[in-house]
Amino acid sequence: MNTEETAIANHNVVQSQLDYRNIVTEKTTEQQNTSYKSCCQNRKVLFVLLSVVVISSLIVSILIPTVILKKKQTQSSSITTTATSITVSQLTTAAEVSSIPITNTTTKPDKILLNAVNGKVYGVWNTSVGDDSKASKPGNHWSGQYLPEESPEKACDGDIDTKYNSFGWCNEGGRFSNCAINTGFYLELEQGPTIVNGLRLWTGNDFAPRDPIVVSLEGSNQSEDDLILGSSWTLLYNGSSGLDIDPGRKQCGLMQYLNNTIEYKSYRFLVLHSRAPVDCVQFSEIELFSFSS
Ligand SMILES: *[C@@H]1O[C@H](CO)[C@@H](O)[C@H](O)[C@H]1NC(C)=O
Ligand SMILES: *[C@@H]1O[C@H](CO)[C@@H](O)[C@H](O)[C@H]1NC(C)=O
Ligand SMILES: *[C@@H]1O[C@H](CO)[C@@H](O)[C@H](O)[C@H]1NC(C)=O
Ligand SMILES: *[C@@H]1O[C@H](CO)[C@@H](O)[C@H](O)[C@H]1NC(C)=O
Ligand SMILES: *[C@@H]1O[C@H](CO)[C@@H](O)[C@H](O)[C@H]1NC(C)=O
Repeated sequence: MNTEETAIANHNVVQSQLDYRNIVTEKTTEQQNTSYKSCCQNRKVLFVLLSVVVISSLIVSILIPTVILKKKQTQSSSITTTATSITVSQLTTAAEVSSIPITNTTTKPDKILLNAVNGKVYGVWNTSVGDDSKASKPGNHWSGQYLPEESPEKACDGDIDTKYNSFGWCNEGGRFSNCAINTGFYLELEQGPTIVNGLRLWTGNDFAPRDPIVVSLEGSNQSEDDLILGSSWTLLYNGSSGLDIDPGRKQCGLMQYLNNTIEYKSYRFLVLHSRAPVDCVQFSEIELFSFSS
């Protein structure tokens, strides 16, 4: 080879080496490009995957508690409803119970003022339920009498230091079992027609054997002279005075309840039995009540 040829050959070699380098560089760039592309794609996939994971966990973390809360709310609201319905049914039961007139209600009863028309309280003796009234008179310890200072109105004056003491068919000192029975009084209420559905007695200051034990209450809408007639009266109560167990002197007995819903303006009260055989019967007060239903 001559010098020129050698130079060209060298040049070609250099050129081809350069070309090779170029090719390698291109290839490397290509490879780099490819690896860049695949890396980028991987990131995208990762990003999408992450997003999916994040979003789905967000959805899960929001949705599940919401659903649980809703379930809990439903449960608790159903519990509340149940509780409410129990309360309502209990109230209904209580209302039903308290509407039965004969039962002991916690309602404060109205105590009836026993003011009589013209202040007249009529004492009676030898008078049974449904009978005509036989008037008793003030007197000195004889049958059919009462002591003037222990007259029938003393049982209606609201003062337990005064009393009504009446003799039956025995004189003072009589000790028969029925001496003092069938005595009592009647009056027309100044306040007019009134429902009576409770009564209570107070004992006198002494002599427990004189306490009334069995009593009756009758009602009437008649006035004055007509009240003497037994036919005027309707029996409302016949039973315990509430003093069966002696509460002591000048003490009240147990409230007695009457199954009565009808108003009357006049009332007749009789003692049917005393605690023990004795010549007279006595009590410091009778109270009549009107329970509102
Ligand atoms: C008591 O009343 C009856 C009638 O109910 C009568 O037959 C009797 O005579 C009366 N007794 C007295 C002592 O008045
Ligand atoms: C009052 O009750 C007694 C005892 O239950 C009874 O023997 C009597 O017949 C009753 N009197 C009236 C008038 O209902
Ligand atoms: C009625 O019921 C109340 C409450 O339970 C009680 O305090 C009161 O003693 C009762 N009265 C009578 C007369 O039984
Ligand atoms: C109360 O009186 C009414 C009407 O007279 C009667 O229907 C009812 O059975 C009575 N109730 C009781 C507990 O005696
Ligand atoms: C008595 O009179 C009152 C008031 O007029 C009335 O409400 C009541 O029903 C009467 N009682 C009877 C048994 O007729």
